[in-house]
Amino acid sequence: MDKILIEGGRSLQGEIKISGAKNGALPIIAATLLCPGTHTIYNVPELRDIRTILQLLVTLGATWERIDKHTLKINSDNITEYEASYELVKTMRASVLVLGPLLSRLGRARVSLPGGCAIGARPIDFHMQGLQKLGAQIELEQGYVDAKVFGGLRGNTIYFDIPSVTGTENMLMAAVLAEGTTIIKNAAKEPEIANLIDMLSGMGAKIEGRDTDRLIVQGVKSLKPAEIAIIPDRIETGTLLIAVGAAGGDVTLTNCNPAHLPSLFEKLRNCGIYLEAGERSIRVIRSGPLKNIDIKTMPYPGFPTDLQAQIMALMTMTEGLSVIHENIFENRFMHVAELRRMGADIMVDGGKAIVKGLGKLDGAQVMATDLRASASLVIAGLAARGLTEISRVYHLDRGYDDLVGKLSAVGAKIWREPGK
Ligand code: EPZ
Repeated sequence: MDKILIEGGRSLQGEIKISGAKNGALPIIAATLLCPGTHTIYNVPELRDIRTILQLLVTLGATWERIDKHTLKINSDNITEYEASYELVKTMRASVLVLGPLLSRLGRARVSLPGGCAIGARPIDFHMQGLQKLGAQIELEQGYVDAKVFGGLRGNTIYFDIPSVTGTENMLMAAVLAEGTTIIKNAAKEPEIANLIDMLSGMGAKIEGRDTDRLIVQGVKSLKPAEIAIIPDRIETGTLLIAVGAAGGDVTLTNCNPAHLPSLFEKLRNCGIYLEAGERSIRVIRSGPLKNIDIKTMPYPGFPTDLQAQIMALMTMTEGLSVIHENIFENRFMHVAELRRMGADIMVDGGKAIVKGLGKLDGAQVMATDLRASASLVIAGLAARGLTEISRVYHLDRGYDDLVGKLSAVGAKIWREPGK
């Protein structure tokens, strides 16, 4: 397995272009199942998770081609299969996003339960309850969700106890061709939901309430193929802003959307990091000492749970106490043990982590445990004195498009060693 090595303590200077959003592209690629024809998707990142969902679509009967590095054409004329196998789903739980579109298109879907992952149990009960409200019959057998609907899905009112991101996305893709009106209450409001709504509207769907927690879908008889551009990846953007905060320097991020990170901007400025937002760019400068701050992860527009591990690495470089509450997932502190190997002083108490910033870290051999934890270790390695060696970096490849190349280009001494 490949390793990433970092000679830390170097500040970063220059410009980095942000890639398309992983969590924008996944539901939009799944949405191409909704109707026959060829869909065009721009600004698609090159990631392992994108390759996985394309592989899944091919098993269902779709074909695809990359027109250029970041443009995909997907043809879904012949969607004949309706099963998403355990082999594929266990590598990426977002495969559950084919449930809604398959039920809409074929009236049938058989998707493996995703199983847990490093950060939590990750149930999909909200997805199943919502689809049942729309008329699907769902059985759980042999680890699979077996869903079928006779006479087509029918509109209804769905309420989410917790604003589930992929739950909202699945309900939208199930409701667009349903008979009648569907209201989704306490819907997730992440920008990736709006990106999917723009795709579905381009296909002819009728959806009101974009960017709010109350979505109203008028079912239509049919849809047509569409073109869409994936929004910039706000989590990659946030990860790089935090990286410059930890390493120090002056970097401009381009092809990004500053408006998608309201909470992080507040927090980084309170940390003493200078941020200058343009229309589609952000200049980040850190030259002085860092101030400790407290974090509570919340659904959008609150502080993203997907940036919690990264901001924790930054807090180890302050000289004060920071309290981090992880309110979304029950086990998202796997990076703590690895940061401790680098000299961090962090105490975990349930969903709360207390970071006693020592203003320094020492390079060490560490192991990535999940996607965002691996980004946290890269950030720690950039700030640490000496050499850091990160193993199991296949986690990083799931969600970051050439992070090593992007950081090298702004002066980081970071490289990748192929596995023995
Ligand atoms: C999406 O996951 C993202 N993934 C995650 O990003 C992100 O961390 C998460 O939203 C929260 O923002 C994609 O968009 C592909 P949820 P999702 O349903 O939809 C509970 C990354 O690093 N819940 O919003 O799976 C759940 O356990 C990934 O890019 C249920 O209880 O998350 C969690 O506590 C990691 N039952 C909370 O809701 C359900 O049926 C929010 O989960 C569904 C969710």
